[in-house]
Amino acid sequence: MKFSHILIKWYEANKRDLPWRHTTDPYKVWLSEIILQQTRVDQGMAYYFKFVALFPTVYYLATASEDEVLKAWQGLGYYSRARNLVVTSRQIVDEFKGQFPKTRIDLLKLKGIGAYTSAAIASFCYNERAAAVDGNVSRVLSRIFGIEEPIDSTLGKSVIQKLADDLIDPKRPGIFNQAIMEFGAMQCTPKSPDCEQCPFLAQCFAFKNNRIKNLPAKQKKTELREVFLSYFFLQFKDKTYLRRRSDKGIWKGLYDFPGLESDVRLPHPILTERVEAEFGLDKNFAVDKVSEEYVHLLTHRRIYATFYSVLLHKKWRNPPEGIIEISLGDIENYGVPRLIEKFLDKQKS
Ligand code: ADE
Repeated sequence: MKFSHILIKWYEANKRDLPWRHTTDPYKVWLSEIILQQTRVDQGMAYYFKFVALFPTVYYLATASEDEVLKAWQGLGYYSRARNLVVTSRQIVDEFKGQFPKTRIDLLKLKGIGAYTSAAIASFCYNERAAAVDGNVSRVLSRIFGIEEPIDSTLGKSVIQKLADDLIDPKRPGIFNQAIMEFGAMQCTPKSPDCEQCPFLAQCFAFKNNRIKNLPAKQKKTELREVFLSYFFLQFKDKTYLRRRSDKGIWKGLYDFPGLESDVRLPHPILTERVEAEFGLDKNFAVDKVSEEYVHLLTHRRIYATFYSVLLHKKWRNPPEGIIEISLGDIENYGVPRLIEKFLDKQKS
């Protein structure tokens, strides 16, 4: 039997009932695919429902503020995806009269829509023969067909894409794409694939050659940098201060506290000096509490964060640009990184 037939048969017997599989609305498919990048289905599901409820059409999203969208995205990580959603929805409304482009090539003109997402939308919504290759698909194909080129290299990517283009079922491209992703997510998983139950067992290169643990090959090791953050939870009466992150980093557009970042753990006296120098708070404060150290893991970073709860004797008169004064009770209306959310949750208990 052909690869695609075996695969689709497996899919029909094993697929999960997922909400975005019941629609061909490109807006909803796009939302789901952006949410599911780097996010597991069980976590992504809640966000999908939330986004469809808050922003039921591309017009709702296009007229929302970046702050609102980042707030809704809070906790999902990789916040550039949320910022791109806003930009792209506006592009669709302004340049495409609110209509999603109907071919893969035209979809590629949109910000944040690359080879994978364009193929997913074109195949699921318009039945275009376009193979969507993500990490799941690369893993499945590299194992079954014994592709030893690193899947994160240019050559490896093109070999896998070509193979997927050859294998895709021309009559059922959307189902093929759903099926191979599902197969990677449920059967041919990264750490413990269920080889005993696999319909490709007899032909799988990796299984036959004992290369399951080695495939897919990757050229880059993810480097983990350690970062030490000292955050200041400043309070003056019922006011506190947040910093809107305007830097290019991963948390751009989110709010955190005024703080300092360092490659090493900073001792308290130095901290006090630097706070005075950087924030112009001139001894106008008393450290009330020092939190335990929070360890927060991101893809390329391990963050060690300490929160200093600080009572100000006077109102902070000239906070640097980007720092805003808000009422303590309003803090929940701001999109914050998960790390800050964890700290704030602890303050409630
Ligand atoms: N991961 C990425 N896209 C997906 C989809 N459409 N269904 C299930 N998991 C996915």
